[in-house]
Amino acid sequence: MAGNLSDSLKKNISSAQLDLIQRVAGEASLLGLPIYIVGGFVRDLLLGHPGLDFDLVVEGDAIKLAGSLASRYGGRVTAHTKFGTAKWNIRESEIGNRKSEIVNRVFLDLISARSETYKYPAALPTVRMGSLADDLRRRDFTINTLAVRLDGAHFGELHDELGGFDDLKGGWVRILHPRSFVDDPTRMFRAVRYEARYRFKIAKDTRTLIPEARAYISALSPQRVRHELDLILDEPNAALMLSRLDKLGLLESVHPALHFDGSMRRRFESAKNTSNPELSNDRISNIASSNIGFRDVRWLLWLMTLSGREITSLNKRLHFTAPLLKSLLASSKLLAGLPAFAHLKPSQCVERLDALPLSSIAAVSLAAPRGEAKQALETYMLKWRHVKPKTTGHDLKNLGLEPGPQYQVILRKLRNAWLDEKIKDERGEQAFLMQLLGR
Ligand code: CTP
Repeated sequence: MAGNLSDSLKKNISSAQLDLIQRVAGEASLLGLPIYIVGGFVRDLLLGHPGLDFDLVVEGDAIKLAGSLASRYGGRVTAHTKFGTAKWNIRESEIGNRKSEIVNRVFLDLISARSETYKYPAALPTVRMGSLADDLRRRDFTINTLAVRLDGAHFGELHDELGGFDDLKGGWVRILHPRSFVDDPTRMFRAVRYEARYRFKIAKDTRTLIPEARAYISALSPQRVRHELDLILDEPNAALMLSRLDKLGLLESVHPALHFDGSMRRRFESAKNTSNPELSNDRISNIASSNIGFRDVRWLLWLMTLSGREITSLNKRLHFTAPLLKSLLASSKLLAGLPAFAHLKPSQCVERLDALPLSSIAAVSLAAPRGEAKQALETYMLKWRHVKPKTTGHDLKNLGLEPGPQYQVILRKLRNAWLDEKIKDERGEQAFLMQLLGR
């Protein structure tokens, strides 16, 4: 035991969370099972910003504990016997019913302490039940091996089996054994994420293992690599992380076209610093279609300078979602053809832009150099795309026009006239319409 976090736990987490932890710990005590909060939650608690999410590790049968909790409080249990893990749906239980809005979670994950071995590099691990120390040894970095015991009189005991506390104090990201990156090459990406997030340093003994382990990145599935890059793009310091990945040769190990240069970094910056609140990152995530969010806008800002061919090839390695791939290709094409927009009439700009995903237009407008083309994209985002004639198909019918494709043609001509300011008010629109109809 390396100290006691009882007070810190009580002070830093909500009373609903504490209540939940205490009930689970009480049940574990009755069954004689030592139980611990392990990993990221303890790390962040010690750094002074505890998260909401925690993993509970039981020295013994976690599925049995979940079953006991469900018989006492209700709620469904989903068990994975192969891994000795259980998910207890607390929202369906008596605790969740009362406090769901404060507990702020639906499931509680209970894990039996286990050891892991890797049959071959980058494989998914083979699992055996074990002690807390075994469970900690299978983890990525020392800073993630701190555990707080919760059952009975042990409540709050900090267990630091592998030097995590000193590394946390010293600001070091350090792996636990020399094969760690080979066993799981995603850890190289995780190391960079923690380093920049906490302004830590990757310890020298850990960093020197990266060049040799880079070769194993090719064995990772597209989903696993993309997940790591997604997590990085979600972080406020994403640009710092990506440039570190680039310097460590980790991006080109994913794909030769993947890199992070000064122009990319500046695009991230300009997106952050845009003075127009309508065009800020968050706003774009809201206005762009619902299946494209902040993370995807970051993907666009990053990769829009790649050619369509490079994006297609990268997609084979990373398996982008279909909407993201479409937006990436559109951003690349839009950026390449951007200078032309400076010389087009508004209606011509709109005709081209209406065919593109809004997220692509938003991202390129953030990234474009100051000038008429950028102005055109911004005006499209804020104004032009909303311009519609007052006249509707209904009105055309009332004017005795036979319904058909000519409706679209007339309505488009009216919209274009508004955009190009040939029409300035409703009377002008009426006059223009009559002219179009030859009346
Ligand atoms: N872990 C690991 N190797 C990985 C992924 C995860 O050893 N490739 C371990 C780490 O000990 C980590 C725990 O599993 O603490 C939970 O993983 P995750 O939820 O991804 O990390 P957090 O510690 O919660 O960190 P973050 O704040 O980034 O989510």
